[in-house]
Amino acid sequence: MIHESLKDFPKNFLWGSASAAYQVEGAWNEDGKGVSIWDEYVKIPGNTFKNTTGETAVDHYHRYKEDVALMAEMGLKAYRFSVAWTRIYPEGRGEVNPKGIQFYNNLIDELVKNNIEPVLTIYHWDLPQKLQELYGGWESREIVDDFDRYCRTLFREFGDRVKYWVSLNEQNVFIPDGYLNGFHPPKVTDKKRMLQANHYANLANARAILSFRELVPDGKIGPSFAYSPAYPASCRPEDIMAYEDAEDLNANWWMDVYCRGEYPKFALEYYRRTGEAPEIEDGDMELLKSARPDFMGVNYYRSGTFCHNPLDGVGIVREMNNTGKKGTAKESGIPGVYKNIKNEHLEVTNWDWPIDYTGLRVALRRITSRYGMPVLITENGLGEFDKLTEDERIHDSYRIHYLGNHIQACREAITDGVDLMGYCTWSFTDLLSWLNGYQKRYGFVYVDRDETDGGTLRRIKKDSYYWYQKMIETNGTYEKEKWDEQR
Ligand code: BG6
Repeated sequence: MIHESLKDFPKNFLWGSASAAYQVEGAWNEDGKGVSIWDEYVKIPGNTFKNTTGETAVDHYHRYKEDVALMAEMGLKAYRFSVAWTRIYPEGRGEVNPKGIQFYNNLIDELVKNNIEPVLTIYHWDLPQKLQELYGGWESREIVDDFDRYCRTLFREFGDRVKYWVSLNEQNVFIPDGYLNGFHPPKVTDKKRMLQANHYANLANARAILSFRELVPDGKIGPSFAYSPAYPASCRPEDIMAYEDAEDLNANWWMDVYCRGEYPKFALEYYRRTGEAPEIEDGDMELLKSARPDFMGVNYYRSGTFCHNPLDGVGIVREMNNTGKKGTAKESGIPGVYKNIKNEHLEVTNWDWPIDYTGLRVALRRITSRYGMPVLITENGLGEFDKLTEDERIHDSYRIHYLGNHIQACREAITDGVDLMGYCTWSFTDLLSWLNGYQKRYGFVYVDRDETDGGTLRRIKKDSYYWYQKMIETNGTYEKEKWDEQR
C-alpha cells in the first residue's frame, strides 16, 4: 500500500552500525587467543579471494579507541560487535583467558562512556578449531554444552552493561555454507549432515536463551537471521508453488524454530521423504519451544526470485561471484522444488546482489505477521569498490542512495505497524569480506589497506559518514522529501 504520509522513527530508535570479530580485529594469535576454524581455513590456498586472511584485518584490536572515537563523533547510538569465542576460551572449553575478557570489557566500557549502546553478538562464525577437531564442531550434540558454558561466561562478565544480545549470527548462512555449499569451513557438502548440524545449532541457541533469562533478566536477546524474502518469478501457479517452497525451506525452516519451537510442516515432510530430516531426540522440541527470543534480528541485503524447476532441473552450483565482476553469478536450484533466478525488475551490485528496498519492507512485514515479534535490523549495507581521491576523500554517493532508500523502507514498515527497534548498517569501518577480500568495502570509514596487507590502516571518513551523522541527528528525517520522492 502507498502511505500518504509516513510515521517518524520512534524516540530511542537504535541508529547503529555493525562488525564481527574476525572481520575487524586482527591480532589473531595475541594475548592468549586460540585458533578458530577461520584462522585455519584461510590458510588453504583458493579458499578466499586472493587468499586474504583476517590475521591483521583492520587492526581493531589495537585501534578500538580510535574507532569508538569515530563512532562517538558521528553520534552513533548503537554498535554491534561480536566476541571471538577463542579469546574467551582459547580451546572452546576449559580455562577462561582473562586477557580476552579484558579486551571486551575495555571495548564495552569505551562504548558506554561515549553513550553508545553495545549490541553483543555471541557467535559470528569463528568456532574454536579445537572443538572442530575434538568432536566435529556443530556436527555434535556436545556443542550445546560448550556453547552454553561460553554464553554463561559472557552473560556473567558483560550482562551488567550490555542490554542487547545477538545469539547466533546467520545460522542460515554458516550452516548451509559450512555443510552443504562448501564455501565455509569445514567445507562439507552433505545435506543430511547440514540439517543435523543445524538442529544442534537450534538447540544451542535455545539453551543460550534459557541461560540468558536466568543471568541477564532485564536484557533482550535474539538471533540474527539473513532474511532474503522469496518472490515468485511470475503468477504462473507453478512459480507460486516454487516461491512457497523457497520461503518454507529457506526462511520458515529457521524462523519457525526460533519463534514457535517447531519445524514448518511441509518442509519437514519433504526432508523426511528425501531421507535428510534431522534426528530429533526426546526433549529437543520441548527445549526449542521453551526459548522464544525477544526480537528477531534481521540481516537484510536482498530478495530472492524463484520459478518452477523440473525434477531434472538445475541443482546446487558451487560457484559464486566473489570478484566483483558483474554478471558472473550463476543460477542454482533444487531439482523438483525451485530455481533461483535473476529478477529483471531489480538492479544488482557488482557482486550480483539484487538491490531491493521494498524487499526490506516485505521482510519486516512477513516477520511481524507470522511471529508478532519486534525486529532489530542487525545488518544492511552495500559492498562496493570505493575510490580514494587525491585529496583523501571517498565520494560514495551510491552507498548514501542505497542506505537512504532502505531507511525509507523502514519508515514505511513502521507506518504499516512493524515494531522496529533499530537499524544497524553493515559496517562501520571497512573490513574483511570473508570470501571477497578487502576490495568489497561496506564501511562509513575507509581503511587504507588491500589484499596484500599493504597500506597504513589509517581511517578516512567517507561522504556516507557525514550523511549518516545527519540522519542520526535528525532521527531519520534528514532529506526526508528527497527520499519520499525517490520512492
Ligand atoms: C552477512 C554477514 O552475511 O553479510 C557478514 O553477517 C558479512 O559477516 C555480510 O560480511 C556481507 O557479506 P559479504 O560476503 O559481502 O562479506
